[in-house]
Amino acid sequence: MSVSAIDIISETIRRLTMQYNNAQSGSDSLKMRQIAIEIADHYNQLAEINPTREKELRQYAGMWEQKAVERKIVNMSSDNSKTITDFAESLKFNSAITFDDIGGCDKLKSVLTKTLVLSEINGLPHPAKTSNILLFGPPGTGKTLIANALANYLRRDNSFYNASLESLLSKYYGQASKQISALFDGARQNSAKSIIFLDEFDALGSARENGGDSDANNKVVTSLLIELDGSKAKNNPAKQPLTIGACNHPWNVDEALLSRFRKRIYVDLPNTKTVVEIINIQIRGYTLSPEVDLNKLSDECVNRYYSGRDLEGLCSVAIESMIDDINPGYEVKYAAMTEAEREQFRISLRPLNNDDFGEGLANIQSPITSDLLKQYESWTNDYGVKA
Ligand SMILES: Nc1ncnc2c1ncn2[C@@H]1O[C@H](COP(=O)(O)OP(=O)(O)O)[C@@H](O)[C@H]1O
Ligand SMILES: [Mg+2]
Repeated sequence: MSVSAIDIISETIRRLTMQYNNAQSGSDSLKMRQIAIEIADHYNQLAEINPTREKELRQYAGMWEQKAVERKIVNMSSDNSKTITDFAESLKFNSAITFDDIGGCDKLKSVLTKTLVLSEINGLPHPAKTSNILLFGPPGTGKTLIANALANYLRRDNSFYNASLESLLSKYYGQASKQISALFDGARQNSAKSIIFLDEFDALGSARENGGDSDANNKVVTSLLIELDGSKAKNNPAKQPLTIGACNHPWNVDEALLSRFRKRIYVDLPNTKTVVEIINIQIRGYTLSPEVDLNKLSDECVNRYYSGRDLEGLCSVAIESMIDDINPGYEVKYAAMTEAEREQFRISLRPLNNDDFGEGLANIQSPITSDLLKQYESWTNDYGVKA
């Protein structure tokens, strides 16, 4: 079977690049960012199925991501309103992820979408108070992914702010509390309802443990308490951003801060059914040999404490193993070709079989232990709910 997945993706990139140029000539920067993200995604896809050009293709992807993110680092030494809006603007992020890209997590999707809609919907006797949500759980379970998808739920660009507390603290040490206020002030000025995603929300706790400057930390905690509380938007509650925090170690989060998140949701490792869904998402565009018993494979992954990220790794290794198997020495042949021959070169694909996944299982090791899972369970019983 000779497949032209590479052709299809390359053609899509050509088409998107034309659209990008059109958006550029119309100075439509929003559209430009959106298309740039799509192009970066497609280059990453190409890189996955085209290992010989992987490095080069990933570089292109990185270049387009750069264009998309345009994260200007703004100096906050003066706090005029232009600087504040600029800083908030620089954290805006339009992602191409949708809920279709996420396996399982049905209850979590439902809680998030309902919370978002309720916080801005009209017709209630009094406006619903925006309730912030803290997602916690082992790394790689889809917390960042799902927040990105929520940003697209109302098909509204330009209302999602993506910030990591860890990077605010490390990059702008001493200024972090100002940056946080600027982010929330900017988000409140946005015409549409804003979602603020604060990744690595436990960073403050670890900074404290590592003996960080406690004065600066206290200032950051105070800023967050004020901003999460919503009192600054008292006169117009609809303007209070919906804040989604995400962290791996919720026990490191200050108790007062925790209380500002009405919903604290445990994003657990995937169960058997979810593993099947995630594998199907991760091997999109490839076919499975009938010999592969997905339920059995999925049980094995659950026993090994695989996260979504581990499943992504499992599938990549399986795909590479399949490509290696039926294109022996493809990298050497490709290197010896002329540019014209390389254009014409097609990699062969076959359905993924048990050996391919065996290779994946042998290569992917989960860092999670049963003790850590017990710690999550017990914290969830005391402070959180399960997704
Ligand atoms: N539920 C899921 N469905 C599909 N892919 C997933 C899922 N969870 C994780 N992944 C894969 O793992 C990667 C890492 O997930 P991420 O959201 O960054 O984890 P976290 O923020 O919880 O550490 C994602 O980019 C995706 O490829
Ligand atoms: Mg994350």
